[in-house]
Amino acid sequence: MIDPATVQRIKDVADIVEVVGDYVHLTRRGANYMGLCPFHNERTPSFSVNKQRNFCYCFSCKKGGSPVNFIMEKEGLNYHEALLHLAKKYGIEVVERELSDEERARQSERESMFVANEWAMQHMEKDLIDTEEGRDVGLTYLTQRGVTDAAIKAFHLGYALDKGFALVDAARKAGFDINVFKKLGLIGTSQQGRDYDRFRGRVIFPILNTAGKVIAFGGRDLKGGLAKYINSPESELYKKSNELYGIHQAKSAIVSERKCFLVEGYMDVIGMWQSGMKNVVASSGTALTDGQIAMIHRFTDNITLIYDGDAAGIKASLRGIDMLVSHNLKVKVLLLPDGDDPDSFARKHTPEEFRKYVEEHETDIIRFKAQVMLDTLKNDPQHRIDAINSVVTSIAHIPDNVARDVYVQECSMILNIPEESIAKSVAQARAHIVQKLKQERLRKNQPEQVTNYTQNQQQPVQSAAAVAAASSNIRTPERQSPQREPLSPMYPLEKAVIKYCVRYAFMKFCSYEDTSNIDDSGKPYIVTLDVLRFVEEELRDSKMQFSVGLFMRMFNLLREMRSGFETYSQQRTLELEERLSAMRKEGYDKISQQALSIDEIRREEQKLEKAITADKEAAIKDICKDYPCRILGSHEEEDIRRLAMELMMEKHHLSNIYLKDGTTELEEDRLSILLVRALDEWKNELINQHINSLFDKFREASRTGDIEQQTKIQAELNSLMNMRKEMSKYIGERIVFK
Ligand code: UTP
Ligand code: MN
Repeated sequence: MIDPATVQRIKDVADIVEVVGDYVHLTRRGANYMGLCPFHNERTPSFSVNKQRNFCYCFSCKKGGSPVNFIMEKEGLNYHEALLHLAKKYGIEVVERELSDEERARQSERESMFVANEWAMQHMEKDLIDTEEGRDVGLTYLTQRGVTDAAIKAFHLGYALDKGFALVDAARKAGFDINVFKKLGLIGTSQQGRDYDRFRGRVIFPILNTAGKVIAFGGRDLKGGLAKYINSPESELYKKSNELYGIHQAKSAIVSERKCFLVEGYMDVIGMWQSGMKNVVASSGTALTDGQIAMIHRFTDNITLIYDGDAAGIKASLRGIDMLVSHNLKVKVLLLPDGDDPDSFARKHTPEEFRKYVEEHETDIIRFKAQVMLDTLKNDPQHRIDAINSVVTSIAHIPDNVARDVYVQECSMILNIPEESIAKSVAQARAHIVQKLKQERLRKNQPEQVTNYTQNQQQPVQSAAAVAAASSNIRTPERQSPQREPLSPMYPLEKAVIKYCVRYAFMKFCSYEDTSNIDDSGKPYIVTLDVLRFVEEELRDSKMQFSVGLFMRMFNLLREMRSGFETYSQQRTLELEERLSAMRKEGYDKISQQALSIDEIRREEQKLEKAITADKEAAIKDICKDYPCRILGSHEEEDIRRLAMELMMEKHHLSNIYLKDGTTELEEDRLSILLVRALDEWKNELINQHINSLFDKFREASRTGDIEQQTKIQAELNSLMNMRKEMSKYIGERIVFK
């Protein structure tokens, strides 16, 4: 448990741009930042980060949230652990009390796997240095291969003792549940039921994820045994095709060098790292996957693949080109002299020589392919056609039009084929690819339509759990009918109202003259209501309240946030004033520097003041809109966070209302209509419900022949039905008005 003040501090300090920036390469787009989504594979950025609201959101896979949410999702942590993670990042000291047994038991399985892996890594790191066997066998081997102490430390290299049960015993002694180690593939069970170490007498290469958590191990054989490497099996933590060896150690260098080297093996990464090229990762001997490319793409647009210059290396370098270029990455290939891998090359040359070699020999991948094709398939016409078509296909996979044109030109020269005919083939192939991508997208979007359907039809769902289950359908279409609690027809109506409350709580909504309250000069006071106050008063006047518990809770939270909002808005307004006065000064300076007539000056000044006023109004609205997001988005309760995100982001693009003349208007500009209508529709439904229950009572009364009761109900019904008629006219009018 962390004390509330510290929790608040962590939430205040954690900045979404910084937190996301550790995982995603962000670029500024106006007031927001954009990058490639870290939660799914994509080639064009749909991950948006809003600094002021302190949250992020993927428009494609719909994941995101506050810094806490982001860390939870990205690191597989629970709320509490995510706070600790952020505290550590920002150097905030947290005094925690010991976990109870029950809490310990509740810790997620994933987390206990991380803990076991981390422990095993440290244990084997120690054994490399602190045991005789580790030093004699493991360390000696590494030293012989020129691995430095710095590299051993940075990559957490270790040694697995050759005893057979060393890790089993140590883990038992440390009080671990051996089953966790079995899931991780560190410990196996023999047919006789005996537990044994899966890694024995091997140098250990821990595999870390981007955040530096241990997800798997590779163990290199030192005795000329059967398998050169054995690796952890896939597990809850380790999906081989989505990971890259060395990414944690490389990520900041990849960003600063604006480039990533991709090699094949563990030792290659370490060799290059020691040569000062720290922006290097390995695919660990398997073909590159979309997921791996997407991971690299989050940090840079440039990737250089390094291969051995032998035939196998060349062949490998041609594999997967289409996929690589389709990511809009700038891909280069570097062949090392025949017989060398990056590790051996690094040992034979100084870092300067290595760097120079890279600069001189790395070749654009398409150009490289064209050249290789030309060299290997000189004369046979049929082969030549195949080769050219294969190059054409690769070019066609490049999403960028200009880049494709450049390659068409270049390859026409290399292959000695008229430009027009290559261009034509590329265009055809491109059309084909685009078609295929569209179909793919359609297929992928189907589950999304399912959610849209539920949202459009506003199928009533009552509990937050059901809402969560429904929204998780985005990802798992096969779980389309989660267990739902009894449906409430009020759900969608109340949701519309709470949505406007969350989005615009503290924004000015309306003012009226309070005639019961006269000031000294005899004029009534002007009362201004913000959205939240307006809804509060409406609900009170109509004796309504939210029937959906979660909405009620949200509404109360918003009300409790008022004083916090005032502090926040004061702070932000101060900053705003500063910015505006700088803007004003600059504007007037500019005007005075121009040779203008007095009239022109006046006009320019008016224009400037108008711009400043507009800027100020927009900024104040933003301040009002930002605060609920900041608070609710990082709220302790999962249901609240989820709902807040959903309400903030739902139908984002439909928030704009498209007018007949083709222009658009923002939701907030029509808020008075939208909100009042939402309230009316809610009221109307309540009246309907009341009418229905009266009908039931009426039927009951006529069954029992209670005439007096019947007349009473009849009267009540009449008045209600009149009210409903008025009401629907009212609603109808407003709709017509739209
Ligand atoms: P290499 O054989 O090139 O390994 O395989 P290496 O890392 O350069 O090791 P040294 O130099 O021989 O010591 C490339 C990568 O393929 C995977 C490993 O990830 C290795 O780093 N691999 C290779 C395996 O997983 N299992 C194997 O048996 C062999
Ligand atoms: Mn090697």
